[in-house]
Amino acid sequence: MRTLSRGGGAPERNRVAADPVARELLARLGLGLPLESAAVAYSGRNANWAGPTSGGAEVFVKRTADSGMRRAVAFELFASARTPQHLRAPQCLGWDLDAGLHVTRLLADSVPANEVADDGDFTAGLAEETGLAIGELHGWAPTADVPVHQEIPILGGIARLFDELPLPVYLEASGAELEVWRLVQPDRELRAVLNALAAQESVTVRTPVHGDLRLDQLRIADGAVHLTDWEEFGLADPAVDVGAFVGQWVQRAVLGITEPDRDAVENSLSHKDIIQRTTAGLNEVRPIVEAFWSGYRAARGGAGDGLAARATAFAGWHMFDRMIAVARESSQVSAVQRAAAGIGRRLLLDPARYAGVVGLGAA
Ligand SMILES: Nc1ncnc2c1ncn2[C@@H]1O[C@H](COP(=O)(O)OP(=O)(O)O)[C@@H](O)[C@H]1O
Ligand SMILES: [Mg+2]
Repeated sequence: MRTLSRGGGAPERNRVAADPVARELLARLGLGLPLESAAVAYSGRNANWAGPTSGGAEVFVKRTADSGMRRAVAFELFASARTPQHLRAPQCLGWDLDAGLHVTRLLADSVPANEVADDGDFTAGLAEETGLAIGELHGWAPTADVPVHQEIPILGGIARLFDELPLPVYLEASGAELEVWRLVQPDRELRAVLNALAAQESVTVRTPVHGDLRLDQLRIADGAVHLTDWEEFGLADPAVDVGAFVGQWVQRAVLGITEPDRDAVENSLSHKDIIQRTTAGLNEVRPIVEAFWSGYRAARGGAGDGLAARATAFAGWHMFDRMIAVARESSQVSAVQRAAAGIGRRLLLDPARYAGVVGLGAA
């Protein structure tokens, strides 16, 4: 079910370095030509190429679709007119809007934060740094050049599919995707909350947001956090970023992602085991979220009205977002995925009650 999932398919790789337009752009930017033999491609939705150039620079070149490219460029222009204290992003070296090419300096020897987290090395210090960066971004006064998100990226499209599933999407769906749909579609209460969040109904202040703050978009280099992939940059409910960060940790808590033999364990878990594991997991990840939240409020100078509750709801949505992504490749939804969705539902329906539980407390 392409449309229900995040999208993707096999990315076209390694073509960027050989592309005459990309070569011309690098030359025009004074970077020389790509040294193709040393080129690598990183995994992602879009085609990219990373490596040294004959001019001695190390670059990351990405080819991307229209709207993402426009948003990424809007971010570069917005950020370059400010003096960040906390927000680090790869240095922009240039772009070609028509060709959809974007060039940044390569973050050499960097590791994506999801891998750091898998190894148990994503410390409270890194979480606080991430919070400081996001809080600073949200605290910047928007300008007319920041593109507006009329609805929340990804959530908006999926919420509509839950209301009505077009036949072509139905026909392409995997067994697990249909299972997800059957789980959510009859749940009016849940759908109403998803629609309200997507439409940003209870939002009073929209801020500049990253818009797709997954851990694999954060890269750790020299012990510092760098935010990459600004294709969803825009003006929106700031809770979308806070909730994305928190949701990933809640999901790790539920799925026990750091456990060794996860698959074997998953299928033998009872409901009680899952609850126990989630409670223990939340106790483990809460200090990470609390550190993020304290950094966030320090940099932004507080948090907006109702932000903690809306972010908790977005964290709940994240369980569904991930369940959908996994479902695309599966015939069945696993018991633990179902449990995660159950917890996500609780966060969505009663977020104010759970904000403190996930680490977004008032203190
Ligand atoms: N300048 C950079 N240096 C090193 N890694 C980068 C840089 N820019 C992006 N990446 C990494 O490359 C991967 C794909 O890039 P991303 O911008 O997320 O593309 P996509 O839109 O395809 O997801 C991500 O893991 C990201 O962290
Ligand atoms: Mg990405």
